[in-house]
Amino acid sequence: MPKQLLKLHNGHEIPALGLGTWQSTEGEAYDAIRCAIKLGYRHIDCASVYNNEAEIGDALKDAITEGDVTREELFITSKLWCDAHAAKDVKPTIEGSLQHLKLDYLDLYLMHWPVALKHGIHIPSTIDEMIPLSKLPLTETWHAMEKLVDDNLVKSIGISNFNIKNTSEILDAATIKPAILQIEAHPYLQQAELFNYCTQNDIIVTAYSPLGSPGRNAVFTPQESSPELLDNPVIKEIAEKHDVSSAQILIAWNLNRGSAAIPKSTKPDRLKNNFAARNITLDQDDLKRIAELDLHYRYCTGDFFNTGPGSIYTAETIWGE
Ligand code: A2P
Repeated sequence: MPKQLLKLHNGHEIPALGLGTWQSTEGEAYDAIRCAIKLGYRHIDCASVYNNEAEIGDALKDAITEGDVTREELFITSKLWCDAHAAKDVKPTIEGSLQHLKLDYLDLYLMHWPVALKHGIHIPSTIDEMIPLSKLPLTETWHAMEKLVDDNLVKSIGISNFNIKNTSEILDAATIKPAILQIEAHPYLQQAELFNYCTQNDIIVTAYSPLGSPGRNAVFTPQESSPELLDNPVIKEIAEKHDVSSAQILIAWNLNRGSAAIPKSTKPDRLKNNFAARNITLDQDDLKRIAELDLHYRYCTGDFFNTGPGSIYTAETIWGE
């Protein structure tokens, strides 16, 4: 059976299966969090840019007050948006998330993207709204992230959507090394090289969109037709063999290679089904067949940062591919 808790380099532990909250909309997020905690989820992945932290905070507060869980049992992540990379903005931004989430510390805080935007910009529409990394280096933001640990606002810090090159820049400059790299990862985007690089450097990988993001918005996957991972016939066959759902096989694939995974759902039956995936062991034959499915296909291309000709940030510059 895959590990239920993954040890970070600093000794803290992250529950391998967490709940994603990206696209948990207003009016849905509260019930989803209360339900997930009752089902046993302890790891909840949030971000200020998802625009639902206040509602999630209400659910966390009520779950704790009503005795469903204690703060210490929970592992709560949030992320620094790209418009707050300036060192002076980092602390006030985590404090904003803490206020919304009604917590006095986070378990994990991530730099959301290796992209710097002017303060107040959510998604850029012109080049003027961007800041080149030569002017505001990722390492400068990282040092401000390290101070948050010293200030006891967060226990562990990490990065998200970084490639090997910018992860190594952080590792070279860090006093506190990143504990986690959060990336899109599933059988169509296995990222073996990046995954192995993280393993060698004692960084745990968290997989977002582990189901292939079936509820995705066209902004995030601009291609007209994209392959539906949940409908893949090999995944379906393996699911039948284990008498589980395709979603459970996809989650189990990440957990079986030692990643954390954060499938998103707001539906009680799916929350329950997804959570049960933490007990599924895939055999060598399953792993071999799934290894052959890699398409290097991204559902979340990052191209929403691309403002057109001359853009500093594009899918190519972000992934370095
Ligand atoms: P919903 O919230 O309505 O359940 P990902 O984590 O890869 O981004 O996928 C999240 C999407 O997958 C959401 O649209 C979610 O919808 C849907 N989803 C979550 N769990 C399952 C499941 N077990 N089977 C099918 N779809 C699921």
